[in-house]
Parts: sequence; C-alpha cells; structure tokens
Amino acid sequence: MSKEVTPVMDTHSYAHPDQAVVRHLSLDLTADFTAKKIFGTATYDITVQPGADSIILDSRDLEIQKVMVDDAETPFTLGTSSEWLGQPLSIPVKTGSKKIAITYSTRPGAEALQWLEPSQTAGKKLPYLFTQGQAILTRTWIPIQDSPGIRMTYDAKISVPKELMAVMSASNPQSKNEDGVYTFKMAQPIPAYLIALAIGDLEFKSLGKRTGVYTEPSMMDKASSELTDTEKMVEAAEALYGPYQWERYDLIVLPPSFPFGGMENPRLTFATPTILAGDKSLVALIAHELAHSWSGNLVTNATWNDFWLNEGFTVYFELRIMEALYGKSYTAMLASLGYQSLKATVADLTPRETHLFLDLAGKNPDDGMTDIAYEKGAHFLLMLEEKAGRETFDAFLKSYFKDHEFQSMTTTTFLEYLDENLIKPNKLDVNVDEWVYGPGLPANCPVASSERFTSVDVQADNFIKGQPAPSLNINGWTTQEWLHFIQALPDSLSAAQMKDLDTAFGFTKSGNSEIQAAWYKLAINQGYGKQIVPSIRQFLVEVGRRKFLTPLYTAMLENGMKEEAQSIYKEARPNYHSVAYNTMDKLFSEAKD
Ligand code: BES
Ligand code: ZN
Repeated sequence: MSKEVTPVMDTHSYAHPDQAVVRHLSLDLTADFTAKKIFGTATYDITVQPGADSIILDSRDLEIQKVMVDDAETPFTLGTSSEWLGQPLSIPVKTGSKKIAITYSTRPGAEALQWLEPSQTAGKKLPYLFTQGQAILTRTWIPIQDSPGIRMTYDAKISVPKELMAVMSASNPQSKNEDGVYTFKMAQPIPAYLIALAIGDLEFKSLGKRTGVYTEPSMMDKASSELTDTEKMVEAAEALYGPYQWERYDLIVLPPSFPFGGMENPRLTFATPTILAGDKSLVALIAHELAHSWSGNLVTNATWNDFWLNEGFTVYFELRIMEALYGKSYTAMLASLGYQSLKATVADLTPRETHLFLDLAGKNPDDGMTDIAYEKGAHFLLMLEEKAGRETFDAFLKSYFKDHEFQSMTTTTFLEYLDENLIKPNKLDVNVDEWVYGPGLPANCPVASSERFTSVDVQADNFIKGQPAPSLNINGWTTQEWLHFIQALPDSLSAAQMKDLDTAFGFTKSGNSEIQAAWYKLAINQGYGKQIVPSIRQFLVEVGRRKFLTPLYTAMLENGMKEEAQSIYKEARPNYHSVAYNTMDKLFSEAKD
C-alpha cells in the first residue's frame, strides 16, 4: 500500500522536493587513505516537476569539480554556507531532465568520516574508515538531498586499498576480493542519513540463516559469541510487527571510537565494541537497532522535529523483543532503568526541551536530540498499550507499519492515524496532546517496577547504613542489578565506603562498559575519582561513545577535577569522531573556572 507522499518542509535541508527530487543514487568512489579523501562520481536519477528550473542538493565541505545534466556539462552554484547545514548546490535542470552526475571529492575534515590510524584499530596494522550520517552529516561525504523525508534507492562501486574490505548499508560482500573493488545495491528506498560505509581489515561470520557479523579478525570470536541471539531477535520482531523487509540483517562491530552505541544502517547495523561484555548482558542494543528496521527505516520521521517517532517507537519495540527472548522479569529491569533515566532527563532539561514534538529550527539537530525522544516516547506508547490492551495495541502497530512502509511520517499524521485506528474505535480516553505537545511527565505516565530491583534496593540501604560490602547479598546479580545498585547509591558515601565497594566488587577494573561508566561517574561525584584517574583515563582515551563521554567529562568539570579532565581530553580527543568531539569541545568551552 506504499503511496507517494509529498515531503514536508524540512528546515535542515536546502532541498525543494516539490520542485525536483532524487530517486536513485549511483556512487563510483575511491577511498584514498593517504590523502584522507573520498573522491569520484555520483550519478542521480531525478524527477523534475513541470515548470521547475533547478534541483537543489545539500553539500558541506565538498569540493565539486564537475556537474553534468543528461550528458552535458552544466554550470552550478554553491550558495552561502551556514554552520551545520553547509551549502545549497543548485543545478539548473529542465522539466524533462532525467540524470545528473557530480564529480567531487571530500575534504579531510568531512564530519561524517572518521579516518582511523592503524593504532586506533584492534589489529593495529591497517587503517580504517567509517561514516556516520545521522542526523545531517551525509552531505559531508555525498552531495545529496539530505532530508529524512526524501527516499532513494542506491548502488555503489567503492575502490579501496587491496588489504581492506568495504561494507555498506546495502547488499554486502562476505569476503575480501583481489582487486579491492566492491559493489553494493540497496533496492529499497531509504533516506540519505541511512547511507553508510565502513572500510577496514574485515572478516565475516554467519550467525544464522539471514544474520551475520563483520569485524576485524582479532575481534571475531568475542563478537560472534556475544551476538548468537541475533537471528532469534529477528524472528521475535517479525512475530510482533510483520515481515523483515530488508532481506539480510548483519552487524558490524567497529573500533571503540564509534561515537554511538549503535546505528541502524539498513541491512548492516553499526555497533560499538563496548557492548561486548562477555555475558550478552548488553545485547538490548542489538534489539534496539534491529527494531529500527521497522520504526525509523521502514517508517521514517519526516523531519528531525519528529525524531520521537523513530526513537520512542524503537525503545518500546526493543523492550518487546527483549521480553520475547529473555522474559518479563529481565525486561522489567530494562524498563525500570529507562524510567529512572527519563526522570533524570526531565529534571535536567528546560520544560520546552521535554516536548515530544520538537522545534529544532535554527538549531543543530544533533544538539536537540535528547533522551526525551527515546524514553518519553516509549512511555507514551507504554501508556497507550496499557489503555488499549496488548493485543489491540499490537494489531494497531502492525498495521501502522504496513500502511506506511517506505514512507515518512509526521507527528500530525501519526496522531491522526492513532485517533482513527486506535483511540476512536476503542473509545479510549487519552491525553495525547499533553504527551506530545506538553512539558514533563503527564500524571498517567506508567512507572515500571521490578521485583529484582526491590531486592537490590534493600542491599543498597544496608550498605548505606553501614553493612560492609563483602557481606551484602549479591547472589545472581546481572549487569542490570549492578547498574541499579550503583545508581541507587547517594552522593554522600565516605571515601572508605567507596574503597570498600571497589575492593569487594572490582568496579574500577570491570570489563563491562556500562558498569564502568556508571561507577566512574559515581566515583567522580563522591570525590573518589582522583584515586582512580588512570582507569578513567584509559577508558576515555579508548572509548569514543558519546553517551559515556558526556556524563564523565561533565562530572569531572563540576567536581573539582578540571585539570584531570583537560589532560585526559587532550590525549583522547584525536581518537574521537566529530560528533563526540564537537559535543565535548562545547562542554569544555562552557565550563566555569
Ligand atoms: N539512531 C540512533 C543513534 C543516533 C541518534 C545517531 C541521533 C545520530 C543522531 C541509535 O539507534 C541509538 O539510539 N543508539 C543508542 C542505543 C540505544 C540502545 C538507545 C546509542 O547509541 O546509545
Ligand atoms: Zn535508536
């Protein structure tokens, strides 16, 4: 039932889709690791509306060498540059124009790209490159209509150094070839932010009939044994919301500088190695990225103001996949951690920033995309599920995905669909506007409770009241119980108590990134951070995941460790991707003396 929908105005793109749009992109590119540039030609199939005289693409920091329109070289204009949006690339076309081709090169500072030295990889011998497109960075490596409301299919031919292999958010090779030339095809129409490329010393291992993992050879055992549940997750997701529409679901485990936990690039989720805890305790992240194959990639937020339609649905869906695989009591812990983080986020932001529907005009979308979209969005859906009953709500979501597959979705259109297909037919009484257009948490926000956390709270209380750490009852605790325990501790513990915990439970040397991040934050807030600086330094130099960096640097800057923070950041910054160092640069420049 896929139908053409006219894209809405997106303030983060120069494109005028009502005049002319790209339908298909064909890349012929070479990755030059010496010059740290990607160069080549992008060819586009376009549709021009009657009377339109130009097509406008987004570009940022690109060197445009030549533009052809239907085989004739054509003059083009690059408009005034604005900070995050870059420059409009305007190409004169006629109503009947069918194809344009652009020969171009990226610049070494292109923000989507992170060029890694061999020392920043697991193998330490060969360089690596990966891209990050969301939200508006694809335009830094491809001239493109970079709006989530505009979809295109693509194919690509990518030439890389012979020792390396290339993979994309498309059909992928499963082994290296002799000549270093790889070809790709994405047959389903996707928005520009989902075009992705990684190049490195990669190997592939199958995980199931349509799932597998790519990573560097020395990481393969660790990665593949952690991810053995992937195929089951795909099955669970399909049972909930309908067929998986992208054929294969593979993952690539990247070097630790990857700035996110995961990125839902279609057919190939990009993931941080910090989820490889050794005990599968952090695989909810895979459920999350997989869920985006429906919420986000199949039905896509029309603009970044509608970001909650991507992330809120995905967090809800992630919980459902986790429940199907690991049961209710485990998932209740995940939901409870989500609720706690929601409360903390609401307390931390201005009321206007806590609306689900955002107003990001004039802002870098990257600064406006907070946890609200994720957790308030998910809790809105949890509330709807509670009101409608699970069976009714599941049927509603399943038809929502079916009816809007390969389309973009605005908040307004979703709310109309919700009203017509769930609220009215079931005569529900719900405060939709308060949730979507109002601040904070409405009174009917579901509060997740977890029995397993109730027992953790008892142990945390005992400890606070003076019981020594080694005598606490911690039998059978998983990562989630430990995270809850650390987060339940107050900011007023003594140095001796912190030492007692660390000696008994080995938090500082934990190999679990989530536990390390939570513990280091507590330690810094307690004044214990100065005693474990080498471990904090090692973590922050190695790992470039922004979700860990922001709270740790913030805690240091606010709790008398400014010098340590500056010294660590000086060493770590060259390892970070632009989305991480841009946020940290801002944090340091705003820090008080
Ligand atoms: N799509 C996001 C990552 C993202 C968001 C990139 C906004 C750029 C702009 C991805 O699906 C995500 O949410 N990742 C989370 C993990 C998740 C389990 C909450 C992350 O990276 O931590
Ligand atoms: Zn997500």
